[in-house]
Amino acid sequence: MARSGKVTVVGAGFYGSTTALRLAEYDIFETVVLTDILEGKPEGLALDMNQSRSIEGFETKIVGATTTPEGAGYEATAGSEVVVITAGLPRKPGMSRMDLIGVNAGIVRGVAENIAKHSPNAVIIVVSNPLDEMTALAQLATAFPKNRVMGQAGMLDTARFTHFVAEELKVEVGSVKTLTLGSHGETMVPVPSRCTVNGKPLSDLLPQAKIDELVDRTRNGGAEVVALLKTGSAYYAPSAAAARMAKAVKEDSGAVMPVCAWVDGEYGISGVYLGVEAEIGKSGVRKVVESALTQTEVEALKTAAEAVRAKQADVKDL
Ligand code: LAC
Repeated sequence: MARSGKVTVVGAGFYGSTTALRLAEYDIFETVVLTDILEGKPEGLALDMNQSRSIEGFETKIVGATTTPEGAGYEATAGSEVVVITAGLPRKPGMSRMDLIGVNAGIVRGVAENIAKHSPNAVIIVVSNPLDEMTALAQLATAFPKNRVMGQAGMLDTARFTHFVAEELKVEVGSVKTLTLGSHGETMVPVPSRCTVNGKPLSDLLPQAKIDELVDRTRNGGAEVVALLKTGSAYYAPSAAAARMAKAVKEDSGAVMPVCAWVDGEYGISGVYLGVEAEIGKSGVRKVVESALTQTEVEALKTAAEAVRAKQADVKDL
């Protein structure tokens, strides 16, 4: 596919800058724009990334742009096809993602409004935490159709679960398939019926207590990294997930991925942003893919939906 178009990554912290570099290395966009409110940081990182082009062999240009909360600098993002919003604070050790809601809501709202002004046709991928709530807020702030705003979490949680299963069974990560739905937090919903190793059900290979332990580790996967790092949160796996989502949008691939998407009737759940499998293309979420879950899994998904629905109702006032 010929290189074309523009993707913007808002926030030049580790998550944002790693996402920008991954997107540039795909070599499918003409331009990757990286923005931050820290003056000079996005420009400096962009210069550094551009200087890696001849070594890594990609032609995509990275443009750094300092922005202000009032909207200065956003001209550089104009006409983006995809925008990844990483803006906001990460957790500190001991914090839950929900502890960030007050401060990050203001940041995400401002960013979303500025993005909407300059890229009215963009697909937005939110990664700021708390994820499900910030995704709902970005949709409110942009007033974009709900299919054009989604959040990244399920791919990350699934990748973490897959890694833990592969380590436990000492098998190649490529032989493991897992799935988590629900929220990016307490009500993350593992889907045992969709977890296999070389096609064999995970439940035939590990005792339930061990599976529960790995699910628990997955649910706390972000916090485990935060506790080790002491400052900042995970970004290699998160950025890989966000970049793949942006790539699926750009290529209009129709890839089915677990993402935070607007659910409207699927699984008997309506009117909430929730982690589900969805087909991704240039319009964002082409459709939520409803698969055959067990009754227990559907119940867990409904519980997750009600937990995030309550919080999402609050974000309009933040
Ligand atoms: C994590 C953050 C990025 O799970 O939500 O690592």
